[in-house]
Amino acid sequence: MSHESQKTSAPWPKRLIRLAVLGYFVLFALLVVATGFLRGFFTPPASQPIAFPHTVHADKLGLACDFCHSGVEQEASAGAPALSLCLSCHNSIATDRPEIKKLLEYERRGEPVRWERLHALPSFIHFTHQRHIQAKLTCDACHGAVEQMAEVRRVRSLDMGWCVSCHREKGASRDCATCHK
Ligand code: HEC
Ligand code: HEC
Ligand code: HEC
Ligand code: HEC
Ligand code: HEC
Repeated sequence: MSHESQKTSAPWPKRLIRLAVLGYFVLFALLVVATGFLRGFFTPPASQPIAFPHTVHADKLGLACDFCHSGVEQEASAGAPALSLCLSCHNSIATDRPEIKKLLEYERRGEPVRWERLHALPSFIHFTHQRHIQAKLTCDACHGAVEQMAEVRRVRSLDMGWCVSCHREKGASRDCATCHK
């Protein structure tokens, strides 16, 4: 009896090691799957603090792009609208909706909405909206049909090849110093 149990228990250490190694990999795989799942579950679909719909404002209501991005014609940056501009309507419009309640909370806390920046060139690049808008390019040429996007996406690479190929096509300057500071 004791002889037999000794025989079967002899290979255990090896099996235990294999089991431990296998267990480790299974646990690791589960952890990877679980964090992936939880991240998908808890991250809101829009990474923006407030799910702002361009479709409603720029398409349905027909607000001009520069009503909110007022820098486009005169400045380098298009700029983001101030909270007060949103509130000029939303102090009374759709105040029962969750996203508008969030907007009013920012107002109550006296805190600006920090929109996540989607388009950003490296700091060594010189780019101005002003020159491009004055050259009669539409927003669409570089940003696509934003008024049709429930959530703004970047539709161009913004890499050098993209800038230079349009400059070639339109006869604009291709000197390195035009874009490189
Ligand atoms: C009522 C105000 C409003 C109007 C009108 C509006 N926008 Fe916006 N736009 C915003 C806000 C707020 C954001 C930041 C949140 C977001 O990305 O959705 C934004 C973001 C953007 C961005 C992304 C900026 C970045 O890089 O982070 C682009 C591009 C843009 N708008 C283009 C347009 C164009 C083109 C139009 C006209 C067709 C337009 N917008 C009309 C308010 C407006
Ligand atoms: C000219 C008036 C006006 C301005 C300015 C304006 N909005 Fe709106 N907004 C509206 C109207 C009208 C609706 C549609 C409400 C409805 O569905 O009945 C709307 C809808 C919305 C919605 C969707 C609400 C929902 O869940 O249905 C959000 C979010 C929103 N606006 C945020 C903003 C933000 C942020 C700004 C400033 C960048 C802004 N709005 C500026 C008029 C405006
Ligand atoms: C020639 C291409 C081009 C055109 C035309 C253009 N943009 Fe842009 N836009 C860019 C690039 C490139 C950036 C990133 C700029 C940076 O990082 O300095 C940008 C950034 C932005 C941003 C976010 C950063 C900022 O500047 O505030 C907004 C908002 C924006 N554009 C709106 C518009 C609107 C609205 C129009 C039309 C009136 C427009 N753009 C026309 C290329 C363009
Ligand atoms: C869709 C076409 C188009 C794209 C894309 C484009 N540009 Fe331009 N750009 C132009 C045109 C047209 C002019 C000429 C404006 C003028 O003559 O005043 C111009 C002018 C400029 C100027 C001023 C030139 C001068 O002579 O002072 C700079 C700087 C510039 N672009 C940088 C960029 C950068 C950086 C990018 C990419 C991130 C870019 N552009 C993408 C069409 C474009
Ligand atoms: C019309 C605008 C434009 C012109 C003209 C231009 N560049 Fe660029 N360049 C860019 C932009 C935008 C970037 C950054 C995006 C990228 O890496 O593609 C860049 C990036 C680069 C980089 C990579 C830098 C890094 O650290 O990633 C080099 C090298 C470069 N350019 C060299 C040149 C040279 C040399 C010339 C002249 C023959 C030139 N560029 C002309 C717009 C321009």
